[in-house]
Amino acid sequence: MDNEIEQAAQMLHQSRYVVGLTGAGISVESGIRPFRGVGGIWTEHGEPPMDGYQRFQADPKTHWEDMVKHRTTADDFSHSLAEAAPNAAHLALAELEEMGILRYLITQNIDNLHLLAGSRNVAEIHGNYTKLRCMECNARYEQGEISLETLPPRCPACRGVVKSDTVMFGEPIPFDVLTTCQEESNKADCMLSVGTSAFVYPAAGFPIDVKQRGGRLVEFNLDETSMTPLCDISVRGKAAEMLPRLLEALKASG
Ligand code: APR
Repeated sequence: MDNEIEQAAQMLHQSRYVVGLTGAGISVESGIRPFRGVGGIWTEHGEPPMDGYQRFQADPKTHWEDMVKHRTTADDFSHSLAEAAPNAAHLALAELEEMGILRYLITQNIDNLHLLAGSRNVAEIHGNYTKLRCMECNARYEQGEISLETLPPRCPACRGVVKSDTVMFGEPIPFDVLTTCQEESNKADCMLSVGTSAFVYPAAGFPIDVKQRGGRLVEFNLDETSMTPLCDISVRGKAAEMLPRLLEALKASG
């Protein structure tokens, strides 16, 4: 494994513009279940319906009433989000950004852990559970910035209906964050993928685009994924163990 990590460090050093792509696997050591693979929520319950957003649009008031009521008996997943702290993998990626090696980070995770770990150049393609977003003007708000006295809550700027910033199944990715992801992916000559099954688009398409443009792919994952055959290097293991070793190798070859 050391050899792959050394090779990965060399590949990142030789690259001009490295962009990260993370998925649920990077947060497993922070106590948040993944969706697929071992211990996955969808592995246990099956993939969720793809029309959550359409159902929300049909009756946002009821959706919000259920959510506010449900919040008092939050399910395990919401509890794990509230309890989670960044792990060594999140911290390693934040340090790679500080070292100027990781230029941008696209995350599919809504858990806010990359921002808490200190990463700054982050695009949260599936949103952030700690934020709210206006469906009309796309303005983002912190939870608590908008009263939940009347439901559905309204945007202070345009009176549009406000929803969680978390992108629902069937919901288009907000245009601003999708544009950032596409721009950053287009600049990348190397993509560092950590803890994603590469199953959900458009995120799963970015590594393919990088590869098709002659870029390189480095994958850190517990298991093989559909992306593995495309990767120049694929490191097996837990992200919280492997990313710190990648960081050490980069510092050593500084
Ligand atoms: N370290 C590294 N990788 C891990 C670890 C770990 N400790 N544990 C699991 N993995 C890997 C799994 O092998 C799997 O490939 O992380 C990946 C998790 O895959 P998913 O659960 O499918 O998560 P993700 O790729 O982020 O899913 C994409 O699907 O349900 C939607 O919106 C949700 O953002 C999510 C999207």
